[in-house]
Amino acid sequence: MPAPPAPPHGRAAVLCGLAGWLPPRVVTNEELSQRLDTSDNWIRTRTGIGRRHFAEPGQATSDLAVEAGRRALRSAGVTDVDAVVVATTTPDRSCPATAPLVADRLGLVGAAAFDISAVCTGFVYGLASAAGLIAAGVAERVLLIGADTYSTIVDPDDRTNAIIFGDGAGAVVLRAGHAGEPGAVGHFDLGSDGTGEELIMVPAGGSRQRSASHLAAAQDHYFAMRGKEVFRHAVTRMTASARATLTLGDRKVEDIDRIVPHQANLRILRSVAEDLGLPPERLVTNVESVGNTGAASIPLALADAVARHTIHAGEHVLLTAFGGGLTWGSCLLTWPGLAGTDHPYDTGGTQQP
Ligand code: COA
Repeated sequence: MPAPPAPPHGRAAVLCGLAGWLPPRVVTNEELSQRLDTSDNWIRTRTGIGRRHFAEPGQATSDLAVEAGRRALRSAGVTDVDAVVVATTTPDRSCPATAPLVADRLGLVGAAAFDISAVCTGFVYGLASAAGLIAAGVAERVLLIGADTYSTIVDPDDRTNAIIFGDGAGAVVLRAGHAGEPGAVGHFDLGSDGTGEELIMVPAGGSRQRSASHLAAAQDHYFAMRGKEVFRHAVTRMTASARATLTLGDRKVEDIDRIVPHQANLRILRSVAEDLGLPPERLVTNVESVGNTGAASIPLALADAVARHTIHAGEHVLLTAFGGGLTWGSCLLTWPGLAGTDHPYDTGGTQQP
């Protein structure tokens, strides 16, 4: 397939606000080990995860998304946007989308609002969609939120999946600007392979099951994953997508100062960096403290890196993600100087701006 054309050197989406929010409840490996046949050592060795955050019973994805969205708007110094996009695998309901509800609760009634469903690649797909809205002149400013509450779809007794996932939300604000300025997002590489549908799925709850003559078993409403195969695909797809994006952007691997992959599993992230030939110190990761937070993982990792001063204005950043679908995607940007991100990574506060 021929490569898509390079984005025009004109109007582009520029990242101008960033925030993350985690629900207060921390679940350690030790806590999981008390009720599951697992151990801190097994979890750390196989995944690099030490703890994660879980939403409280009754707390939904929109509750997390609103907190992250409010902080991202404050970080950007704006009170309104033209569109609100929520990337999630765990929407509040299968109908309607979660984004209009989030927009309403942020005082953004009237803005375009829709969800993106691309599992753990959702944030990168969301970035490309927001960039498209801005490039087409449909929006001047977009609030993009990646938010997931995997604790609501993972079987708490499934020791393989219950140890991996955590809940959280991360958000960015994008404004119209120029392709050459720091913070401008692009080039992008996006892709999918639906033949891998069964590797990551929640079998029941959609039209496939509802149109069948039999009722789904309760277990079919839980998240299911074929871990070993997913591991292999995650490494090869993120590596290939990252390389494709570098080619599109006419960059070399050595030009990249920071790679921020979807925080699936530390072994996966290290393999991607190694396969690309990037030294480990250029890898941005916070999976130890949050686990795999789905569509929230890249903005949460970015917010964490800003809070810890491990990402700096002017650095060349490569985002790459992989998720169910199968889906994958990558994006290049030069890190902007963000004002108002002194405390971008918030756990538990609920104060109003
Ligand atoms: N604690 C202890 N033992 C566990 C365990 C746990 N939490 N989960 C599985 N095991 C056991 C298995 O039952 C198996 O036992 P057996 O050898 O007696 O059959 C053994 O550990 C090895 O299981 P396996 O599935 O082969 O382990 P693995 O090394 O592949 O690690 C994952 C499992 C899930 C951690 C790993 O496959 C993985 O990280 N996959 C990718 C997941 C991911 O990142 N998904 C998101 C992508 S977006």
